[in-house]
Amino acid sequence: MGSDSIHPAIRLERLTALPDRRAALAALEEIFFASTTRTEFASDAERAAFLDTWTGWFVTQAPDDVWMALAGDDDRRIVGYLTGCKDSAGAVDLARRIPKYDVFADHFAAYPAHFHINVRPGWRDHGLGRRLIDRFVEDCAADRLPGVHLVTAVFARNVDFYQRAGFTNACQRGPLLFLGRCL
Ligand SMILES: CC(C)(COP(=O)(O)OP(=O)(O)OC[C@H]1O[C@@H](n2cnc3c(N)ncnc32)[C@H](O)[C@@H]1OP(=O)(O)O)[C@@H](O)C(=O)NCCC(=O)NCCS
Repeated sequence: MGSDSIHPAIRLERLTALPDRRAALAALEEIFFASTTRTEFASDAERAAFLDTWTGWFVTQAPDDVWMALAGDDDRRIVGYLTGCKDSAGAVDLARRIPKYDVFADHFAAYPAHFHINVRPGWRDHGLGRRLIDRFVEDCAADRLPGVHLVTAVFARNVDFYQRAGFTNACQRGPLLFLGRCL
């Protein structure tokens, strides 16, 4: 089923194309916390650090590769996002932040790009996630990258979703699952 028939007005924009960066990042934060499985934080500072660990590098160092899904003409109505990195091996500061970043480092040459994605509850299952991924993959192909990957959990519900999006080259290490797509 095509997403365009359900939400005809959804459009995808780079973070750098949105005039109100502060509103966009507030929406990203909301969607991030509505999507993460971690709900307990000892303090506001710990909560902010958790957000920074997973999104900080992308929004500051690679904002062109942060894609937002917007509902309608209202630039503040953000319903999903993808944070991408086109050079996983070269993103040394990112490797320092993200736990277990190096587990699949031997695959970074074949699949240099990677991403994280979250869709706002209530907007899931309408094809937005697939559209965000397809847009980032298209951008990576235009840059002539050989592949894109993501890392998820072996038993995560989203595994089928990624495999349907073409991420079929799998490598399991402990509880982590690497899924790669050649371009
Ligand atoms: C995974 C996710 C990004 C997909 O976006 P989406 O817009 O719902 O995706 P699409 O409509 O293109 O495809 C639907 C598929 O998404 C997956 N999905 C839907 N809701 C989900 C949820 N709450 N958690 C995990 N995966 C989900 C399913 O595989 C679904 O296919 P199904 O019909 O076989 O169940 C989105 O559901 C989400 O944000 N989930 C929670 C957070 C998450 O898992 N993020 C990825 C972390 S690695």
